[in-house]
Amino acid sequence: MKRIAILGSTGSIGKQALALAARHPDCFRIVSLAARDNLDLLAEQVRAFRPALVSVATAEAAAALRSRLDGAGAEIVSGEPGLLQVATHPEADLVLSAVVGTAGLLPTFAAVHAGKAVALANKEALVSAGELITAEAARRGVRLLPVDSEHSAIFQCLERGGTTSLRSVILTGSGGPFRTRPKADLESVTPGEALRHPRWSMGKKISIDSATLMNKGLEVIEARWLFGLSLDAIRVLIHPESIVHSLVEYVDGSLLAQLGITDMGLPILYALTYPERLPNHFPALDLARVGSLTFEEVDHDRFPCVGYAYAAARAGGTAPAVLNAANEVAVGLFLRDAIPFTAIPRLVAEALDRHPVRPVRSVEEVLAADGEVRAALLARYGSPLAARA
Ligand SMILES: NC(=O)c1ccc[n+]([C@@H]2O[C@H](COP(=O)([O-])OP(=O)(O)OC[C@H]3O[C@@H](n4cnc5c(N)ncnc54)[C@H](OP(=O)(O)O)[C@@H]3O)[C@@H](O)[C@H]2O)c1
Repeated sequence: MKRIAILGSTGSIGKQALALAARHPDCFRIVSLAARDNLDLLAEQVRAFRPALVSVATAEAAAALRSRLDGAGAEIVSGEPGLLQVATHPEADLVLSAVVGTAGLLPTFAAVHAGKAVALANKEALVSAGELITAEAARRGVRLLPVDSEHSAIFQCLERGGTTSLRSVILTGSGGPFRTRPKADLESVTPGEALRHPRWSMGKKISIDSATLMNKGLEVIEARWLFGLSLDAIRVLIHPESIVHSLVEYVDGSLLAQLGITDMGLPILYALTYPERLPNHFPALDLARVGSLTFEEVDHDRFPCVGYAYAAARAGGTAPAVLNAANEVAVGLFLRDAIPFTAIPRLVAEALDRHPVRPVRSVEEVLAADGEVRAALLARYGSPLAARA
């Protein structure tokens, strides 16, 4: 029986994890949950899973949840201290870090610092502070278990093949909803179109990241830290069918790949049950029905975000945190129709150009750089109704 804390329980990943916990009640017990303000769903989750501790974003939300759950028995806390309490709950063996964005950084770091195994969905934490988090994990002897399907695939391949003769890892990506869209048409795509991912059903932010291919860029940085790789050893390949979740290449030219149906439930379950594998309800992959698997290079002209991520990772220090923060704000602005789709990469590039890179020695320094970028963009686009960029 694994005792699990979930950060971001009301999100796409969090809900799928709880559905798996409900299907396997002998394997998992939920000890703590955190979300922002989706109180209806959170109240349902508390009634169903009976966690000891629950956190929401504000004291007002906590009061509202308390009155809804009158007598349900969970301690309800709020704000950043609440999130940290959930992440470090003394009974938790494993923390599923599935809050979206930079909000996941401090609780992920706190979970690692507290010696918890971490199933990591929140890639933004590793993008901004990968060196600090992986160093802390090494110090505490903590395992970071990838939830991202690509990193789960690489993790599973490396379990078999090891790292001694590794030449490269190849992250696959579907190419998103605009894979075949001409460059001139990208200016006018709407949030609705960008959210319609051809293969995966996900939260809004990662759906937009998939449409700009920034998601692949963030994953390059995530892979670098998770697997201790040089950036030259990480490649990206577009694979529209999303069946080969990623590959590793050895020095003799052999490739190992992990294949599976397009369902995040599988990598989530593997991260939760590692090192075991659990028989489950997911349909088997029918390769004959899939028929063909195709691959193509990234078009860096239409999708410059992958290149920006490599550049930020090469610059090091605060640069990846700047990339991440500018992207997070730009995605929010696009979703509110305040800027066009093509302004997302533009704002990221401008933020990187303006920022004098500094070394990072602490999470606070990472958050300071993140805050500077947010403040600068907020000053420029303060209102979501501001003129289009
Ligand atoms: N979705 C996928 O298939 C997928 C795949 C790979 C990786 N990931 C990664 O997993 C993470 C989560 O993605 P998602 O798609 O599940 O996102 P999502 O559906 O938008 O859910 C985000 C979750 O975070 C919570 N949250 C947001 N801000 C918070 C705050 N300040 N304090 C506490 N909780 C907060 C939300 O609570 P409320 O609901 O109350 O707002 C919600 O539970 C992201 O880093 C993403 O890149 C996702």
